[in-house]
Amino acid sequence: MKVLSVVGARPQFVKLAPVDHVLSESGHEHVIVHTGQHYDRLLSRAFFEDLAIGQPAVNLGVGSAGHAAQTAGILAGLDSVLDDQRPDWVLVYGDTNSTLGGALAATQHGLRLAHLEAGLRSFDRRMPEERNRIVADHLADLLLAPSAAGVANLASEGLARRTVLVGDVMIDALVRARAMIAAEPGQYLPAFARAGPYLVATIHRAETTDDPDRLAATLSALAVCPLRVRLLAHPRLADQARRLGLPLSAGSLEASDPLPYPSMIATMAASVGLVTDSGGLQKEALLLGVPCTTLRARTEWPETLQRGWNVLVPDPCDLAAAVSRPRPPGEPPQPYGDGHAAARVVAELAGRLGEKREG
Ligand code: UD1
Repeated sequence: MKVLSVVGARPQFVKLAPVDHVLSESGHEHVIVHTGQHYDRLLSRAFFEDLAIGQPAVNLGVGSAGHAAQTAGILAGLDSVLDDQRPDWVLVYGDTNSTLGGALAATQHGLRLAHLEAGLRSFDRRMPEERNRIVADHLADLLLAPSAAGVANLASEGLARRTVLVGDVMIDALVRARAMIAAEPGQYLPAFARAGPYLVATIHRAETTDDPDRLAATLSALAVCPLRVRLLAHPRLADQARRLGLPLSAGSLEASDPLPYPSMIATMAASVGLVTDSGGLQKEALLLGVPCTTLRARTEWPETLQRGWNVLVPDPCDLAAAVSRPRPPGEPPQPYGDGHAAARVVAELAGRLGEKREG
């Protein structure tokens, strides 16, 4: 079987890693196409190195642009690649513009399309990620859902026949990262994490960064948190703050560059809590047993809200109270699978090769 993965943004490299490992261990051919949506070393190459992912066969080099131009660049770039490669499956991941471009291009070339992390919904179509995941789900021949809620969302949109619950490949990646950290404790924890209790924060969604008032209110709220807050600044946030003259280090708030994946996991695991507007981190916090505060009105990972492990805080004014809440008692629920999702993904792809495609 020949599988062609289209990836381009940081969280997709994490999802790609376990799939790449299982495909190569089972003797299948795996062609990785990097769209170039993310190009900074810390957002891209570091992940391929740390997670031992095979080299991309092609990098389309689309870089940064508006949603339409970025997606168009991916579509144009994939044309000759898909013609040359003619894979048995095109596999797209999550909800970025690279997912959208990969999904459209695959179907335009008449190729079988599978969507990994299918069925998630924030029910907020203002988010580009929500639009991207809806389109990818409706185009795909095979919908690989990470959770029961994802399966239910797909059923309610008439997509049950194409859906299979595989669990979440990010758990596979996390299990491996925890083993790496356990084998060499100390190797992955940055110096700031050894200097007393702290919260970890990430902010990069357009809804937060591109609204100057909201960004200013969010940074002010982080600066008055009752604990040190280490803000791992995505380049989009750093650019925007510079442009608006907003300090990223003030009061409790201290900013630094994004961390490589194993260090990020070690840093979150040792923290008092996470403050984020990201999707994937909400879930990783739950798995690590770290309380999460999400600076959004809705989440596509509703299971994280159980017993207050994750709390939605749409108004930054409520942040200090939310991060001061007591840690939920006991261990967190584990609704996202057993760390063997990638093996199920590969088995589904291989098992369906002989099937006639639906119209
Ligand atoms: C994208 C995804 C988002 C995902 C995030 C992970 C979409 C619509 N959004 O958002 O779902 O959570 O990736 O990080 O696809 N930039 C750099 N260096 C880079 C990449 C980006 O400096 O390597 C800066 C540029 O100023 C760029 C901005 O970040 O304009 C935004 O990058 P973009 O790829 O458009 O989206 P993300 O915000 O990273």
